Amino acid sequence: MTHTDQKSALPSEYLGPNLLDLWRLSPAQIRALLDRTRRYLDAPASERYDTLAGRTVANLFFEDSTRTRISFTLATRRLSGEVVDLSTSGSSVSKGETAVDTAMTIAAMGVDVIVIRHAASGAAELVARAVDCSVINAGDGRHAHPTQGLLDAYTIAEAHDRLDGFDLTGLRVGIVGDLEHSRVARSDIAVCTKLGAEVVGIGPAELAPESFTTLGCTVSHDLDEELPTLDAVQMLRVQRERGASAVGLKTCAAEFQLSAERAAAMKPKAVVLHPGPMNRGVEIASSVADGPRSRVLRQVAIGVAVRMATLQHVTQG
Ligand code: CP
Repeated sequence: MTHTDQKSALPSEYLGPNLLDLWRLSPAQIRALLDRTRRYLDAPASERYDTLAGRTVANLFFEDSTRTRISFTLATRRLSGEVVDLSTSGSSVSKGETAVDTAMTIAAMGVDVIVIRHAASGAAELVARAVDCSVINAGDGRHAHPTQGLLDAYTIAEAHDRLDGFDLTGLRVGIVGDLEHSRVARSDIAVCTKLGAEVVGIGPAELAPESFTTLGCTVSHDLDEELPTLDAVQMLRVQRERGASAVGLKTCAAEFQLSAERAAAMKPKAVVLHPGPMNRGVEIASSVADGPRSRVLRQVAIGVAVRMATLQHVTQG
């Protein structure tokens, strides 16, 4: 498949054959994806589409996943596509094959889309350069998780009646906890700022460093000062597996946990998000995770439609 030949004839909202991160998308491209997401969400969940009829999507997850992997599978099925799943145990990855060689092997079998998750930042880009099918980044190291960013932006827009145009101007979004090791934080900053929101990263200096200001957000180390100003707050898990220290974890739990008292201090319409998996009692109190402000399960539901929209865009333009 040669994708570049088609580009000049396609509208500016055309995403291209891959979705690797959100920084390279224009606001118009992001809005086109979110508009498509809305159409899928508005339709009954039983509705099937023939968008991917005769096509195959390969899930290559080199890291664990519940939400992303299952929602890409459901999204593919709702679009009438076939899904193949590669697990790192039981495949030749366990014999030392590289991610790029594995992806080239799967692509050579004739798949149309590779959905890849990998612990290394940049892995999705490397794979996209090596194969001639579409590639969707399902999370690479601390770099990017674009479909998570899209579903988070949609969730915020929905909560604040911004579905017509997805303009988040005037909204203030807080991302709290371990930003340093978080691909979700980076993708949320990209999408929210492109749609007009003001974003503040909040956490201990070790996990919310000043360097984040280069991404277009501000940084704060005082959650209680920021909370009453926020319209949405995204709580993040401390990622020990990516290098967060035990001290960082302890500080987040002791000083940056979204407790019931803190949630009570938020604006009346402010909502609470979490990309999952949650560590209840660490970054978020159980009562907040299950409380009236929580959009956690709504995020999951929106995630299926976002992945349908993404698959539709990368395969059809
Ligand atoms: N938010 C997210 O990526 O969850 P999973 O790791 O379960 O896919």
